[in-house]
Amino acid sequence: MALDKNFLWGGATAANQTEGGVLEGGRQLANIDVLPYGEDRKKVAAGELEMLDWKEGYYYPAKEAIDMYHHYMEDIRLFAEMGFKVYRMSLSWSRIFPNGDDETPNEAGLKFYEDIFNELKKYGIEPLVTITHFDIPIHLIKEYGGWRSRKMIDFYTRYAETVITRYKGLVHYWLTINEINILLHQPFVGGGIVFKEGENKEAIKYQAAHHQLVASALTTKIAHEVDPENKVGCMLAGGSHYPYTCRPEDYQEAIKRDREGYFFIDVQARGNYPNYALKKFEREGLSIQMAPEDKEILAASPVDFVTFSYYCSRTVSAHPEDYEQATGNLFASIKNEHLPSTEWGWQIDPLGLRNSLNQLYDRYQKPLFIVENGLGAVDVPDENGYVEDDYRIDYLEKHVQAFMDAVEIDGVELLGYTTWGCIDLIAASTGQMSKRYGFVYVDRDDQGNGTLRRTKKKSFDWYKQVIATNGEAVRNQIPSAVL
Ligand code: BG6
Repeated sequence: MALDKNFLWGGATAANQTEGGVLEGGRQLANIDVLPYGEDRKKVAAGELEMLDWKEGYYYPAKEAIDMYHHYMEDIRLFAEMGFKVYRMSLSWSRIFPNGDDETPNEAGLKFYEDIFNELKKYGIEPLVTITHFDIPIHLIKEYGGWRSRKMIDFYTRYAETVITRYKGLVHYWLTINEINILLHQPFVGGGIVFKEGENKEAIKYQAAHHQLVASALTTKIAHEVDPENKVGCMLAGGSHYPYTCRPEDYQEAIKRDREGYFFIDVQARGNYPNYALKKFEREGLSIQMAPEDKEILAASPVDFVTFSYYCSRTVSAHPEDYEQATGNLFASIKNEHLPSTEWGWQIDPLGLRNSLNQLYDRYQKPLFIVENGLGAVDVPDENGYVEDDYRIDYLEKHVQAFMDAVEIDGVELLGYTTWGCIDLIAASTGQMSKRYGFVYVDRDDQGNGTLRRTKKKSFDWYKQVIATNGEAVRNQIPSAVL
């Protein structure tokens, strides 16, 4: 059995990691623009070091990124050449509402994305649009403290309603908030939160989470009202947790850690708070302020589909101090000796993708969409600028095989697959350009030098072939187990 003929193959990017032009066309600063390159980046991202403006002595990679603001026509042409059916991208909130609390939107910003959507339409590429991908107008942080304030629900929904209405007919697939669970790990990136001395961080994070969940549900409602054809999804930073040993307490730790992420999706997909979360709030004395109507809002508008990013699985123990740590996509993890690692220490686990798909489908019984997956690697171009990225092809081939198994053998309902960073872009965690994910090489280095010239890599033709054959090109020799 093959994938559905309408399976949505494509690639994904985010405004803050590609566009640049941060003060062009009326746009104003966002949290993500002030994340510096270098060792302070982590502290700023965690809300532990306040940086709400560009400061002397720092380099800010998002300022120009890969300058897609001026190159989007060329980039979309390349995506079309690969045969993309879908392109996942995000809107920059401060391009549309420069301060966030403006009464009216910025027409230049709205027009910019309208032009992109029309360009995509020209090639028959469906946009999949993330309304906010680590992107909050800085004024909302300075003035209201970011998502810790309930006022953010109004600012966000005004923005969401504006774009959903304006792009009616051009966009049908919406994601409300990228990797919503990142709020717990990088509160400034996910929520625009900067902590003050002595605050109860856990309470602030879950209060902000509540505001985001309500805003997300209201947006789902708006999207359905504006156009019944609209489909709205939530977005999880995925990758299941494995217990390091079969000791029950290690397994319990794995369940606990999975729930940290599922908490958000449980609310967004099922429409109510799971009991384990309510018990946690009670036990830890986290008094989360909820308005009387919130329960109803959440229940009334669950999402239509569930999306997630997948780069690696994670391994945990009740006694992590006993083991060597691996790095991972923003979460701490123990090194799993059964898995190889990327140059950045992320552990490569294609079967983990199939397992995650099964877990999510069992849990939610909603269509799934893999909206990020890929290998961050150092690419060394030859004298013609060509990159032979067999390592990337190998990574992606195994992951494509894994999700095809999940669909064809396990019966998971999967709408599509967008590889992360289909064109090289700024890495979110490190701000590096040298951590490349793309099928297209962009000539730019970690300090912002380079011509920005775009060159196809070897994986470009490989992916084109995969799409043209609806995945049959990777049907591999490794026999697939039945789950
Ligand atoms: C996800 C984000 O966390 O992982 C992306 O949604 C990010 O924005 C991607 O780029 C890969 O992480 P990194 O740090 O390698 O860019």
